[in-house]
Amino acid sequence: MLATNPFFSDLAAALDPVDFAQSLGIDPDPWQEDILRSDSKRIILNCARQTGKSSVVAIIALHHALYHPKAMVIIISHTLQQAAETFRKVHDYYRQIAKPVLSIIESVHRLELTNGSRIVTLTGQAPDSIRGFSNVSLLIIDEASQVPDEAYYAARPMVAVNAGRIILLSTPHGQRGFYWQAWANEDDWEKVEINADQCPRLTKAFIVEEKALYPSWLFRQEYYNEFAEGVTSVFRTEDIDAAFDHPELPTRWEIDLELD
Ligand SMILES: Nc1ncnc2c1ncn2[C@@H]1O[C@H](COP(=O)(O)OP(=O)(O)O)[C@@H](O)[C@H]1O
Ligand SMILES: [Mg+2]
Repeated sequence: MLATNPFFSDLAAALDPVDFAQSLGIDPDPWQEDILRSDSKRIILNCARQTGKSSVVAIIALHHALYHPKAMVIIISHTLQQAAETFRKVHDYYRQIAKPVLSIIESVHRLELTNGSRIVTLTGQAPDSIRGFSNVSLLIIDEASQVPDEAYYAARPMVAVNAGRIILLSTPHGQRGFYWQAWANEDDWEKVEINADQCPRLTKAFIVEEKALYPSWLFRQEYYNEFAEGVTSVFRTEDIDAAFDHPELPTRWEIDLELD
C-alpha cells in the first residue's frame, strides 16, 4: 500500500539510495548496494572494467544533489570527454526519474537544480580550472589512476571546509600517482575491490576471449585489479634501482673505452 503511494515511494528513494537506484530500474549488485548505503567520507573503488563503478557513483551524485539542497558535486576525469561521459549517466538518470527537483541549467558539463544544488564536470588536465570551486560536498574522481597528481592536490582542499566526501574510482594504471598511493598506503579510505569474476554481466566466455587477446600484465590490470609494474616504464622500479646501485656495472666512460 505504502509502496504504491507516490509520496511514500519518493520518501523511500530520498532516504535510501538503493531504493532510489531501484526506482531508476537498476538492481544494484551487492557491492554497489554497500557503496550506495555507505556514509564513509573517503571511498576508493578498484574495479575491473565495465563492472558498474561509474554508474553507481553517478547514482550517488544525483541522489546527493536532489536530496541535499545547495550540494556542490564535482566530477573530475582525465579528459573532459570522459568526465562528460560519467556526467551523461547522471543526466540520463535525472531525466529517467522525471526530475523530482526542477533544473535551472542543463548542459553537457553542468546540472543546476532549483534547490541550489550543482553538479559540474571538469578535466584533470587543467588543474587551474579546478581551483575556482569551494564548499564541495562531494568530489568524484573517475578513472582516477590516469588523473594527474596536480589536479588531485588542487581539488582536495575544496572539500575541506564543509567536510565533504571524496570518491576515487578506477581500474589500476601502474604503481604511481595519488590513486595508487591511496590504495596501497593510506588507511583512512573505505576500499572496495571488484574483479571481473565478481560482475554478473561479464561472462566467462568474454573473459576467456579477452585473456587470449591481451598481454598478461594488461589483462590482470584491466580485469583483476593488479597495479602492474612497467606501465610507464619498460623496467621494474626495483630493477632500475638495483642497476644503479650495482658496483660491478661498467660506467658509461668504461663502456666508451671498450668500444674504442
Ligand atoms: N547493477 C547493474 N545492473 C545492470 N546493469 C548495470 C549495473 N551496473 C552497471 N550496469 C551497466 O554496465 C555497463 C558498465 O557500467 P559502467 O558503470 O560504465 O562501468 P565501469 O565504469 O566500471 O566501466 C553499463 O552499460 C551500465 O549501465
Ligand atoms: Mg567508468
